Amino acid sequence: MKNLLATILVICFGAMSASAQDDPGLAAIEARQAIMSYIGSNMRPLSGIMRGRSDFEAGYVQSTGRAIQAMAKALTLLFPEGSEEGLETKALPAVFARRADFLAKLQALESGAAGLAAANSLEGFNAAFPAFAESCQSCHSQFRSD
Ligand code: HEC
Repeated sequence: MKNLLATILVICFGAMSASAQDDPGLAAIEARQAIMSYIGSNMRPLSGIMRGRSDFEAGYVQSTGRAIQAMAKALTLLFPEGSEEGLETKALPAVFARRADFLAKLQALESGAAGLAAANSLEGFNAAFPAFAESCQSCHSQFRSD
């Protein structure tokens, strides 16, 4: 009887930890990965503007910049204790061990996004985009495995 109960607990617990719904750490991983995917999906259209392949559209650039600014703020809360492992997270242990450095990189993302939010001409965009784009690699190289 005891063994049966133990087995049931192990099975239930196993199923639970696989589900982000019941685990705040996994939910945080899921949320930050979704946010990063959104940010990543804007890189091609934005760099297309930089390369002259598409037109500068202030509405798109500014609203995307504002969205990413807000997301950079949210990301400061989405690497909590308990989210070090699971869902094939690529966050390196350094995220948790060197929190201040990691937050500084998020700050750079937010400032870069603020530059996009303020761009009201192609010239302004071209001046702001490089700092924004560099903030990604500057963090990934230290804090993300690939
Ligand atoms: C402060 C650090 C930091 C900055 C800045 C940053 N990233 Fe990330 N990024 C990460 C970490 C850490 C992960 C891994 C998250 C995980 O798997 O839990 C990640 C994951 C990703 C992923 C994979 C998401 C998935 O589907 O799992 C993409 C795409 C991505 N980042 C794009 C970008 C782009 C584009 C920028 C810049 C505009 C950027 N990131 C800026 C730290 C950062």
